[in-house]
Amino acid sequence: MYLIVNDVGHEVDVEPEMPLLWVLRDVIGLTGTKYGCGVAQCGACTVHVDGVARRSCQVRAGDVAGARIRTIEGLGTPDAPHPVQAAWIAGQVAQCGYCQSGQIMQAAALLAGTPDPTDADIDAAMAGNLCRCGTYPRIRAAIRAAARAAQGA
Ligand code: FES
Ligand code: FES
Repeated sequence: MYLIVNDVGHEVDVEPEMPLLWVLRDVIGLTGTKYGCGVAQCGACTVHVDGVARRSCQVRAGDVAGARIRTIEGLGTPDAPHPVQAAWIAGQVAQCGYCQSGQIMQAAALLAGTPDPTDADIDAAMAGNLCRCGTYPRIRAAIRAAARAAQGA
């Protein structure tokens, strides 16, 4: 099966029903995407599939063959972070960090479709991304900061 991850093609020998999360972490070696609940309830495994935030623990690899998959490793670079990543760093959002890849991918997908989100938009988009450390206030502040930065405000 041919998967396109972060603009790189990978020919992987896996069963079509293997969860995308497993393929990313255990076959391709991209471990930035995390396993939390395994049942689409926490958001730790969030990646983009054709620009849409998806829970990779509940996406069959065979269903995304040929799609454009993006993980936290491909969102930005240390020298050129994505605006959401830059806002996360400036706001020192992370605590333990475990949920944060998923939070950032979810937030990046939100801003791609809704560049100037209301608080209600943010709450609705982020409601399914859980954080055991309770970083929610910093997450929301960073999303607002990233939106302002993207608009040059
Ligand atoms: S590990 Fe996928 S949503 Fe929790
Ligand atoms: S920063 Fe620890 S779970 Fe979110």
